[in-house]
Amino acid sequence: MALSAWRPIEAEARRIATESLADIVARRGVDGFVWRGPHLEVDVSRQRIDSAVLSVLAKLVIERGLDAKLADLFAGRIVNASEDRPALHWALRGGGGEIPAVARMQREAARVSAFAAIAASGGLGFDVKTIVHIGIGGSDLGPRLVWDALRAYGSGPEIRFCANVDPDDFREAVTGLDPSTTLFIVVSKSFKTPETASNARLAHIWLAEKLGDRAEVEARLAAVSSAPDRAQDWGAPAARIFAMDEAVGGRYSVWSSVGLSLQIALGADVWRRFLAGAAEMDSHVRDAPMEGNLAARLGALDVWLHSALNLPTRTVLAYAHRLRRLPDFLQQLEMESNGKSVADAPGGLIAPTAPVVWGSVGTLGQHSFHQLLHQGMRDTAVEFVASLDAGGRDRARGRALLANAFGQGEAFLVGRSAASAEATLLASGMEADAAREQARHMHMPGGRGSTTILLDDLSPESVGALLALYEHRTFAAGVLWGVNPFDQWGVERGKVLAEEIELAIRDGGSEGRDPTTMRLIERARDKFAG
Ligand code: F6P
Repeated sequence: MALSAWRPIEAEARRIATESLADIVARRGVDGFVWRGPHLEVDVSRQRIDSAVLSVLAKLVIERGLDAKLADLFAGRIVNASEDRPALHWALRGGGGEIPAVARMQREAARVSAFAAIAASGGLGFDVKTIVHIGIGGSDLGPRLVWDALRAYGSGPEIRFCANVDPDDFREAVTGLDPSTTLFIVVSKSFKTPETASNARLAHIWLAEKLGDRAEVEARLAAVSSAPDRAQDWGAPAARIFAMDEAVGGRYSVWSSVGLSLQIALGADVWRRFLAGAAEMDSHVRDAPMEGNLAARLGALDVWLHSALNLPTRTVLAYAHRLRRLPDFLQQLEMESNGKSVADAPGGLIAPTAPVVWGSVGTLGQHSFHQLLHQGMRDTAVEFVASLDAGGRDRARGRALLANAFGQGEAFLVGRSAASAEATLLASGMEADAAREQARHMHMPGGRGSTTILLDDLSPESVGALLALYEHRTFAAGVLWGVNPFDQWGVERGKVLAEEIELAIRDGGSEGRDPTTMRLIERARDKFAG
């Protein structure tokens, strides 16, 4: 790697490792480590950083030319070199009108909105009570997250989701549904993803068996794709096929036609507010200088935590039931964007690149994996996401939710000494030897950092701003690591192997594969041959 900014970062990592995290926080306080953005604030004051660390990270941002890369992104220039494409997801929230592809996208967005209004108002000739959204990956995770987050604002139909090739998924999605009031929307950029194609066929069969009449069936089909011919072959009428632009990656696409089911179910005004919140974050990321730019700061912090401090994972703890899908969404956004090992930048790669992103909804995680986070022997970068309108009108439960989030963060930071545990046990009347022995098991090392992202509320604007921030942070981190955040060559191989092995199970002929795969194929052939 030819980056002059990296050695000073490594030096800072060695320096700051010698000081306890509690001492670092006490020494430098929180001022300068709570960063404000549209609809949210990011509190990194519990992370193992200080002003000297921020200073060397700022030099990396400069050396990587992140500001120029962001300018490329927002100008619609090529930022996805391996596919020779721009990345225009941000333009779906407004802006970029001077870019030819954006004008096309805006026209398609108008088509989608018009259809959504018709579908929501009975204009399709039937009352849409349920939408079954069929898609996977970026054609599923964003819509699921936003549906959970904002469904309370909607007044339209319910959305059910179906993604897996496992037929139980489809079966569950249609259980209890009346075909006459069900609209299927198949979302697939390629319209050849096997799982989605399989479920699209099941949808067609289900409708045909229930309704019989071809026109009645086709009236309940719509499709979103970059491959309209394949969508039409499936049975969607041309007027119900909505384009996805090649310049919008699947994991960045919830704002596009992919969000058709959301627009019908949530309504035009909620959708507008969702986009508006994201647009405010776009403006911040586009216009704020690097030293005050949330995307740049969080991207640099990711490089610090996962490449300089070598924390292998980030644990996202969403302390809001409505954000329970956020970890799933971020897994694809960040791991499919930056889970790479090939340099896409002249300065070479900063390794290791992206962390494993995992997590859960709070407070549930506290009753499953937090034990390891408190007393286990592996550290992770914890990221709390919570909202200041937690609990809605139920202030007591909202207060409890926030108290849990803040308390977990304090426990990760401060821990608890065996001595203090022993004193507590003695004060409770426990015998000295027993207290000493039990206190050993109650020791919590502490010194574990965390970030707290605090949303003003869970309004459509705030949810839009949050997701846009994560998109731009992911891009910024990718630029700093030196990878291309917009391609995903690694996932193509699995699809090819699945097709080959499916044929080997059906028809035999697994020679030449690894011994384990050959054995497993033979086991499956007992039941699935022919
Ligand atoms: O996982 C690979 C991938 O191509 C994702 O990038 C994408 O979001 C998902 O599969 C679904 O692809 P499509 O929308 O083409 O069905």
